[in-house]
Amino acid sequence: MILGSVTIFRCRLGQYNSAMKIEFRENGSIGIETGGKLVLRQGEQEVVIEKPRVSLCRCGHSTNKPFCDGAHKTAGFVAPAAVIELKADA
Ligand code: FES
Repeated sequence: MILGSVTIFRCRLGQYNSAMKIEFRENGSIGIETGGKLVLRQGEQEVVIEKPRVSLCRCGHSTNKPFCDGAHKTAGFVAPAAVIELKADA
């Protein structure tokens, strides 16, 4: 997974009493169901993102890292699909 060493994601798992799902899309990005909100911290900057879903780059070719910009399609990125589910009460 290529996210950069200064990028930290925090998800308020449990605050919404819901699960977080991380989907590794076949030959593509990492989709995260956020539960509605997440905090992106890069260096000293912290940005609150209020979206139910975000897509992260795992191919390394996005010009908008850590987010996917679709460049994996032309880069010929190949990777299997997988899903991770984190339960708030687990
Ligand atoms: S996974 Fe989409 S640009 Fe990298």
